[in-house]
Amino acid sequence: MNWWLVYEEEDIERNRAYIDMFFRSCSSRNISLELLRTPDAFKRINSLSEALPSVVINRSRDISLSLILEEKGTAVYNNSQITKLGNDKLAAINFAEDLGLPVMKTSVSPGDPGWPMIAKSISGHGGTEVFMLKDPSDLEELEKKDIFPLRRWIYQEVASDTGRDLRIYVIGKRIIGSMMRSSDTDFRSNYCLGGQASVHTLTAEEYSIARTIIDTLDIGHCGIDLIYDHGSPVFNEIEDAVGTRMLYRYTDIDAVEEYVDYISHSEGANK
Ligand SMILES: Nc1ncnc2c1ncn2[C@@H]1O[C@H](COP(=O)(O)OP(=O)(O)O)[C@@H](O)[C@H]1O
Ligand SMILES: [Mg+2]
Repeated sequence: MNWWLVYEEEDIERNRAYIDMFFRSCSSRNISLELLRTPDAFKRINSLSEALPSVVINRSRDISLSLILEEKGTAVYNNSQITKLGNDKLAAINFAEDLGLPVMKTSVSPGDPGWPMIAKSISGHGGTEVFMLKDPSDLEELEKKDIFPLRRWIYQEVASDTGRDLRIYVIGKRIIGSMMRSSDTDFRSNYCLGGQASVHTLTAEEYSIARTIIDTLDIGHCGIDLIYDHGSPVFNEIEDAVGTRMLYRYTDIDAVEEYVDYISHSEGANK
């Protein structure tokens, strides 16, 4: 079997150890894996002489890459639907709301939620494009930032239990683990911003939100993130190119091994 692992150039160094795990896991199964930068993946797809791989693990968040490969019959992990939902927070909130799941009230207009509110770009990651706006002067500050005209923004009611969120890790139809992330110093609980993490056992309510999403979508490997409002879990986002540093640090779950195993047994990989 011949697989590709696709990354954006700027993400490769930071993820080197993770990428190496994919190579080890594939090589133990006699799968030949190739690491490609996104532009090279497009070049290879467009080369008339080349046969495409049976599987592409797309960690680039580039949905057009998934779409073109899917059209050509290659199995893409995650597929384009998950890549869309994972990289468009508004689409994800609308999707969850349509399933009847609890979400924080969200609008494309800052006039809607009332103060204070959360502003976030629809495509941000790692908490870097998420802001707490306490009053109109904070909105003015945000609008002055260089990043502001470059992104689409959504405005959200503030969940009351700030500084805490739950990451539920999914492979296929299975929940492989979950971690509660928290921060004492920031309303954002992102682990990469210095938040703490602890292994978490899902409550019935948390499980039910995750299960509804898992049953509806065709997930390869993603994160489902919940935040808390007055003690109750609320859907927040889907993480497409989910990282598993926390899992490796705090548990003995080998997410890469489980993911490669899952893909290698799936229909798409064995066409
Ligand atoms: N509506 C909200 N109310 C309170 N806190 C929030 C809200 N939305 C996000 N947060 C906090 O900010 C963090 C980052 O926001 P998130 O939507 O997850 O963006 P990112 O993709 O950058 O992680 C969340 O983990 C959570 O702790
Ligand atoms: Mg997040």
